[in-house]
Amino acid sequence: MKPEIFRTKSFVEDAATFIESASKADIEQHGSFRIALSGGDTPRPVYQSLAPRDCRWSKWIITFSDERCVPPDSPESNYRMALESLLMFTNPGEILRLQGELAPEVAADRYEGILQSYVSRPGEKRYVHDLVLLGLGDDGHTASLFPGTAALEEKDRNVVSNFVPKFNTSRLTFTFPLINSARRVVFLVNDEKKEPVVQKVLEGGHGLPAERVKPENGELIWFLGKP
Ligand code: 6PG
Repeated sequence: MKPEIFRTKSFVEDAATFIESASKADIEQHGSFRIALSGGDTPRPVYQSLAPRDCRWSKWIITFSDERCVPPDSPESNYRMALESLLMFTNPGEILRLQGELAPEVAADRYEGILQSYVSRPGEKRYVHDLVLLGLGDDGHTASLFPGTAALEEKDRNVVSNFVPKFNTSRLTFTFPLINSARRVVFLVNDEKKEPVVQKVLEGGHGLPAERVKPENGELIWFLGKP
């Protein structure tokens, strides 16, 4: 399926409104809204824009598309960023935190089990997100699926620990099988310096990790900020 691309000057507002609308439709249909929050800097203002909205938060089940291997109170933590910009104001029904404070393999194994325990929708084999948010790095990485790292080749598991040589540390990350099982995958990119890498990912054939995000039965959407 071809990606849907929204280029917008009101990136934060439009992305937040898209997420709000998706949540209302999914809660209506499924009784819950399963969203994976992305990390880094881009999503923070989007979460801040979402926080005051009336989104039936008690029906939200929050996961994280990746996490640094740090404690939840670390300035590096994606969970902490989401907590400070969204979660502490909205009190979602469930927050499934990737435990970055644990040994990476232990944290990944635990999360794998947690996700499996939430498989509950008819015909669901692998946990199906209603919406996975992703960012994009200059090197074409997404989540913590960095070029040349082992996690790119994971075909079975949903979550793995992934050693990232460029940082000389491990990360916890969703795998492509989990990402590509989602009903919607949304890239959030709000930096015109990333336009060249966005174009490469959209073109395909450059061997960049983000090119492998191809939801099997879901929608692929790009929100791109315009200066
Ligand atoms: C992380 C993210 C990572 C991020 C991109 C873009 O843990 O950092 O998951 O994949 O989304 O690196 O980051 P920015 O939004 O900060 O540019």
